[in-house]
Amino acid sequence: MKSLENKVVLITGTGSGQGREAALRFTGAGALVVGCDINEKGNRETREMVERAGGSLVTMEPVNLSDPRQAEKWIDEAAAVHGRIDVLYNNAAAPHFAEFDEFPLDGWQFTMDNELNLVFYATRFAWKYLKQNGGVIINTASTAGITGSGYGGAAHAAAKAGVIGFTKHMALEGARHGIRVVAISPGVIETPGFVDWAKANPAEAEPLLARNLIPRFGKPRDIAGVALFLASADADYITGANIVVDGGRVSW
Ligand SMILES: NC(=O)c1ccc[n+]([C@@H]2O[C@H](COP(=O)([O-])OP(=O)(O)OC[C@H]3O[C@@H](n4cnc5c(N)ncnc54)[C@H](O)[C@@H]3O)[C@@H](O)[C@H]2O)c1
Repeated sequence: MKSLENKVVLITGTGSGQGREAALRFTGAGALVVGCDINEKGNRETREMVERAGGSLVTMEPVNLSDPRQAEKWIDEAAAVHGRIDVLYNNAAAPHFAEFDEFPLDGWQFTMDNELNLVFYATRFAWKYLKQNGGVIINTASTAGITGSGYGGAAHAAAKAGVIGFTKHMALEGARHGIRVVAISPGVIETPGFVDWAKANPAEAEPLLARNLIPRFGKPRDIAGVALFLASADADYITGANIVVDGGRVSW
C-alpha cells in the first residue's frame, strides 16, 4: 500500500516550483490531490504533468488565496470533491522585496496578504473539515523566518516568522482534535523564479551557497519528500515542529 493511499490532500500553489513537485509526488504516493493556484497556465501544466505520469489531479484556477472569500470558496469546493480533507499543505506564497529605506507600504501589505494571511485563511476555512476526523496541516515557512532574509526581505522575514508562530500555536489548538500542524522551512531552493534571478544576478546568488554544509542549492524534490513524510503516518508523533530543509545553511 502506498504511503498516502486515498488520503485527500489539498495543496496550494500547485502551478509552479515546490507545489508542482508536491502534486506529482503526493499523487504518486496514492493521495487524492486537489490543487489551486492564481496562475492558470502553470496549474494546467501541472495537471497535464501528473496525467502524463499516470496520475490524476483536480485543479482549480485562478484562485487568489489572499482574498478570504476566494480562499473559503476554494476550500469548500475542494472539500466537496472527495467529501473530506485529510491534509492541507499551505505552500503558496508571493513576497515583495525592496531595500528597506524604499520599502513601499503596499509592498509590506502585499507580502502579509500573500505569505501570512493566505495561510490563516485556508487554515481557518479548512479547520471544520479537519476537525471531523483529524488530519495534518503543513505550512511552508522559510529559513528567512528564523534568521532574517537576504537584503530586501524585511516583509518576507516577518511574514515567514509569523507562519512559524502560527504553526506552533495551531499545533496546540489542533492536538485535541487529532490535527497535527507542522512547518517546513526551506533554505534556498532552485525554483523557476530563483533560477531566473540567479542567472541575472550571479554575484548575489553565489554567496548564498557559502554557508551551506551540503554544497548545492535545494531542489523542489528535497522539500516535497519531507512534506510527503510529514503528511504520512510515519510522522504521527511530529507536531508543532519547524523542519529546516536547507543543506545545513542555518545550522551553525
Ligand atoms: N524557492 C525558495 O528558495 C524558497 C525558500 C524558502 C521558502 N520558500 C517558500 O516555498 C513555497 C513555494 O514557493 P516556490 O519556491 O515553489 O515558488 P513559486 O513562485 O515557484 O511557487 C509559488 C506558487 O504559489 C502561487 N501563489 C502565490 N500567491 C498566490 C495566491 N495569493 N493565491 C494562489 N496562488 C498563489 C504562485 O502563482 C506559484 O505558482 C513558498 O511558500 C515560498 O515562500 C521558497
